[in-house]
Amino acid sequence: MSNLKVRLQENADRVTVALDALIPPVQGPEAELLSAMRYAALGGGKRLRPYLVIETGRMFGVDERCLLRVAVALECLHCYSLVHDDLPAMDNDDLRRGRPTVHREYTEAIAILAGDALLTLAFEILADPQTHTDSHIRATLVSSLAKASGAKGMVGGQMMDMYSNILENDIAAVTRMQRLKTGGLFHFAVEAGGLMGHASAEAMNALFGFAHDFGLAFQITDDILDVTGTKEVTGKAVSKDDESGKTTFVTLLGLENAKERVAILCKQAKSHLRMFGGNAQMLLELVDNIENRQY
Ligand code: IPE
Ligand code: IPE
Ligand code: MG
Ligand code: MG
Ligand code: MG
Repeated sequence: MSNLKVRLQENADRVTVALDALIPPVQGPEAELLSAMRYAALGGGKRLRPYLVIETGRMFGVDERCLLRVAVALECLHCYSLVHDDLPAMDNDDLRRGRPTVHREYTEAIAILAGDALLTLAFEILADPQTHTDSHIRATLVSSLAKASGAKGMVGGQMMDMYSNILENDIAAVTRMQRLKTGGLFHFAVEAGGLMGHASAEAMNALFGFAHDFGLAFQITDDILDVTGTKEVTGKAVSKDDESGKTTFVTLLGLENAKERVAILCKQAKSHLRMFGGNAQMLLELVDNIENRQY
């Protein structure tokens, strides 16, 4: 296994173990809620956002326990976003991470509640003194994740996505939509690592530039895989964007130009990391992996 694969797997395993402990099954009337939260959070996933938190933080020598808790909080938020994204009122998907979506396995009401609870759990974890001894850093983490995931971030992007059919030929609007919808959480991932590591303003700016280009490249590869991928490999339905009339970089630019755009963004993403030299190796390798990803 490559260095990157080993590191991705190690980090993912630690995140899964931590999530398992943070969302224990319960008896009684809430049992199904906790069961659905566990189903959403523990069933696979590439754990890329946690990887970015952990590996960015490591560049600055941040305490591993802090990194893991922030990584887990971000993954809870990401899992919530997927549960709600799949709902019949949103993308109406039946397959996620190779298994029935939460509303399919449970009910729509339980999927809504499990998403709500994963969202709030993310902030509960960040605000807990175990996450960081410095209350100012904890408050900044809470506020940054709220911004990245709310109306001016992920949820705002999801709103634009619902009406993306009217964005035809508007590349600026689609870029903004993808940046909000997907870029926000990647931005938070590197911000958290830098913040806990007391990164300089210059280093933070470099990380933000990286997250901007990486996040956009990542969403374009998601849109490409919707056209070129299979449900067996991606673990989710394909050809959905086309069927639902969404405007993506692929519909705007065509497949080949979209791939070219990914290559340019990945190169740009890596160039932002130059100031970190060899310390950024685990981020650089991730970029190469995403550029050629199949799932
Ligand atoms: C899927 O994200 C949703 C997008 C923002 C494109 P991932 O491709 O990271 O999903 P998992 O976590 O690996 O399932
Ligand atoms: C979802 O984008 C982004 C989120 C904020 C969840 P998509 O709708 O394209 O993600 P997939 O393809 O269902 O994973
Ligand atoms: Mg969607
Ligand atoms: Mg979707
Ligand atoms: Mg998609």
